[in-house]
Amino acid sequence: MTPKTSPPDVRILGIETSCDDTGAAVVENGTRILSNILISQGELHAQYGGVFPEMASRSHVETIEPAIRRAMEESHLSVEELDAVAVTRGPGLAGSLVVGVNAAKGLSLAAGLPILGIHHLESHIYSLWLSQEESPERFPALCLIVSGGHTDLYVMSGHGQYRRLGGTLDDAAGEAFDKVARLLGLPYPGGPAIEAAARSGNPEFVRFPRALLDDSWNFSFSGVKTAVLREVRRRQPNLAAGINPPEPGLPVENLAASFQAAVVDVLTKKTVRAAREFQAGEILVAGGVSANQALREALQRDAPCPVRMPPLELCTDNAAMVAAAGYFRFQSGQRDTLDLDVVPDWDLAED
Ligand SMILES: Nc1ncnc2c1ncn2[C@@H]1O[C@H](COP(=O)(O)OP(=O)(O)OP(=O)(O)O)[C@@H](O)[C@H]1O
Ligand SMILES: [Mg+2]
Repeated sequence: MTPKTSPPDVRILGIETSCDDTGAAVVENGTRILSNILISQGELHAQYGGVFPEMASRSHVETIEPAIRRAMEESHLSVEELDAVAVTRGPGLAGSLVVGVNAAKGLSLAAGLPILGIHHLESHIYSLWLSQEESPERFPALCLIVSGGHTDLYVMSGHGQYRRLGGTLDDAAGEAFDKVARLLGLPYPGGPAIEAAARSGNPEFVRFPRALLDDSWNFSFSGVKTAVLREVRRRQPNLAAGINPPEPGLPVENLAASFQAAVVDVLTKKTVRAAREFQAGEILVAGGVSANQALREALQRDAPCPVRMPPLELCTDNAAMVAAAGYFRFQSGQRDTLDLDVVPDWDLAED
């Protein structure tokens, strides 16, 4: 009897520079993280309450080489032992994406490695394959991508196959968390700050509006954000919009909890409805806002099928998820060339 041989391990270096974090990671077979380096610019941008694009790209230029070097060192592999380099190609900030893509091209050329351009939202989805013992996919999957720049619903019928159902018409959910945090005098990024404040608040303190947009799969979060602004102004008539810190006496915890409840309610109701309608085998939730415990609990409670969410540390941008998405693309035969360019406004379903 011939002994059963297992396929050789595939090791991919992922590079992520779509926004304000410089990431480099090595992942084996799309699931096993050998290293995952993230150099965050959070503090640099915190003073502006959001990401300052030119500073972000300049900062990536300084951190990309140390990030890649550390990722290689911690993986205990040499560049020759890699099978490919996968890099975020879009969507994102053009000046930031260029830094990662150029670094990947340099490596690809120097080491003779295949290069793969990866969609940032696809990489968020593949954060769900990381650290999994086995591939537990149950297609069709209903994907909710809920992050700083996106709030989208997709039906994923197989690896790399997406149909977009709808998305936000205005603010992304994470963006609404960030803006409302600012109104309440909480730090950036707003999501974790609101979640922490909401823990000691009453979610029924104010019933903020829920834009359910029942005739579509779209979302809208600008209404709830404006409702919080009106509530803050009503309670503090002297407070000019956006001027921090709010006067003492503002019930920050209660307003944070009420805002979070409205956002979680809308995300949960629409996702559950879509999962039923498209007979999803599972719900995949990814992106920064998927770290929110209230959202996790509501989805687990109401979903008609299993729900998968990334480990907390892999919800926000990281390079391990880029390498994981790169693995599935590599296995399906994708190979890009050195004229690979960034696509700052790339649509996932177009690909
Ligand atoms: N616990 C949390 N609750 C709610 N929101 C959160 C939480 N943790 C992070 N966020 C939000 O997640 C967002 C960051 O997520 P992510 O890094 O995926 O976004 P991005 O990369 O900027 O956007 P995109 O992926 O759409 O390009 C921020 O808006 C942040 O406030
Ligand atoms: Mg992201």
